[in-house]
Amino acid sequence: MKLIDGKAIATQIKEEIKAEVAAILDADMRGPHLAAILVGDDPASQTYVASKEKASREVGMTSSIYKFSDKVAEKELLEVIAFLNGDPEIDGFIVQLPLPKHIDVDKVICSIDPSKDIDGFHPENVGRLASGMEGFLPATPAGIVELLRRCDIETEGKHCVVLGRSNIVGTPMALLMSRKANPGNATVTLCHSKTANLKEICRSADILIAAIGQQEFVTAEMVKEGAVVIDVGIHRVPSKETKSGYRIVGDVAFDEVSEKCSFITPVPGGVGAMTIVSLLLNTLKAYKGKISTV
Ligand code: GUN
Repeated sequence: MKLIDGKAIATQIKEEIKAEVAAILDADMRGPHLAAILVGDDPASQTYVASKEKASREVGMTSSIYKFSDKVAEKELLEVIAFLNGDPEIDGFIVQLPLPKHIDVDKVICSIDPSKDIDGFHPENVGRLASGMEGFLPATPAGIVELLRRCDIETEGKHCVVLGRSNIVGTPMALLMSRKANPGNATVTLCHSKTANLKEICRSADILIAAIGQQEFVTAEMVKEGAVVIDVGIHRVPSKETKSGYRIVGDVAFDEVSEKCSFITPVPGGVGAMTIVSLLLNTLKAYKGKISTV
């Protein structure tokens, strides 16, 4: 079994981005600038946004966070989005999800300028992905594709099973693996809560991507000998063995599954590390797109 070291690959890509940003700044040009809108005080969202800000500073990009209480009116959020859409100094931005229930998330996503949509959630970018056109790819699936590419994992003609059909991971992941590209060209099965014979389908996977949001859901009996296993889950579970009082596990029962597969991503240090890097790459892409049209 080979461990897919997402952390090491992410560090390497961050160095590549840092060099590119340094060259831009050395040429006395304005550097790339990304922004994040954070609503409420959900701890996971706060952690994600703080990590995004830290990573952008590490590579020399400018980053801004717009924070709002969970009581913020939808109208106010839409006004901030309109402001960011129009600000020529902002190359791309994200609205951290989930949003409070009184806010229409579809309306919010549709109000983002697709050319600044570095999360790739706007229907125009989703449509571009589905049509095989150039656009912004959602960060987690894009990060997984990059891991497969950098680990030289063959995907063409393979059976790829994706567990979970979320707009953020499962659905774009299935589209990416099936499109005419490398990595890609796989035969994809997208499984969800209503799928019959889930275990049998998983057992037939050459590449199994778990984004189902249930801790240690994928067990050894669901995995074919020699399969590639990608774990998107992040769950905190209480632990007496760590100082913090908890440990992080994924959607895959790592100890038993790792004995059967050819490649596996650890949690933490696998997919998670790549997600932020993909967002930085999208910011750079948004920046260059703007610069080239000026
Ligand atoms: N919430 C969980 N993952 C994501 C993500 O990739 N982007 C945004 N905006 N919100 C999220």
